[in-house]
Amino acid sequence: MSLLETHNLTAHYGDFQALFGVDITLEEAETVAIIGANGAGKTTLMRSIAGVLRNAAEAVTYDGRPVGAQPADEIMAQGVAMVPEGRKLFPSLSVEENLLIGTYGRKKSGHWTLNTVYDLFPILRERRNSPGTALSGGQQQMVAIGRALMSNPRVLLCDEISLGLAPVVIKDIYAAVPAIKAAGASLVVVEQDIAQAMAVADRVYCMMEGRITLSGTPESLSREAIHDAYFGAAA
Ligand SMILES: Nc1ncnc2c1ncn2[C@@H]1O[C@H](COP(=O)(O)OP(=O)(O)O)[C@@H](O)[C@H]1O
Ligand SMILES: [Mg+2]
Repeated sequence: MSLLETHNLTAHYGDFQALFGVDITLEEAETVAIIGANGAGKTTLMRSIAGVLRNAAEAVTYDGRPVGAQPADEIMAQGVAMVPEGRKLFPSLSVEENLLIGTYGRKKSGHWTLNTVYDLFPILRERRNSPGTALSGGQQQMVAIGRALMSNPRVLLCDEISLGLAPVVIKDIYAAVPAIKAAGASLVVVEQDIAQAMAVADRVYCMMEGRITLSGTPESLSREAIHDAYFGAAA
């Protein structure tokens, strides 16, 4: 059994169905990328795994246990942390206070502490007393990642961590991935940037209109197949 699995996962917002039977797996020590256009359902999938959206218990299994019906705080306490789309920092809190928020849900000791997060992103040590809002977009993203790491997760869900950032900043942020993996986390990375997804992932899933349309290793997927899975064969 994989570390994390979804089984025929569905999601609804009122009458609108956003996910239609999504099956994905994440192995221990693996990095999986989810790619797809705006509105494909990527964030909905992340929120379903993280327990923000509830499901049938068997729709999500983690570490061999059915967890699909559990609320977000219980999922997080078991070691699944999310870097949410849009970062969602507390603007009135300092960098350090935002990082410490990440420890509240899960009192798990491990590699990640304030000190090791500051070693990973040294600029945050310099800005530790600044309010979240005084930071650049890239620095805010580093805080959002650091906050998730502070819970010493086994699974880290990253929702569009490169969105709106300059290429040089994106490079800095993705440079942290090897250290995050070395500390024992498996990653699910949502990306609209296909090249970035291919570069970081062991395996890729492409989503369109609430369904997985393609999956495989980056080497096994042709540009044409990805294009069709991303935009539809008629595009
Ligand atoms: N809170 C919501 N209420 C209603 N519809 C939503 C809500 N959030 C997302 N949706 C819809 O669900 C679909 C999938 O959205 P989302 O998961 O955010 O896609 P992605 O992250 O791939 O851009 C879209 O059609 C979107 O409009
Ligand atoms: Mg999204």
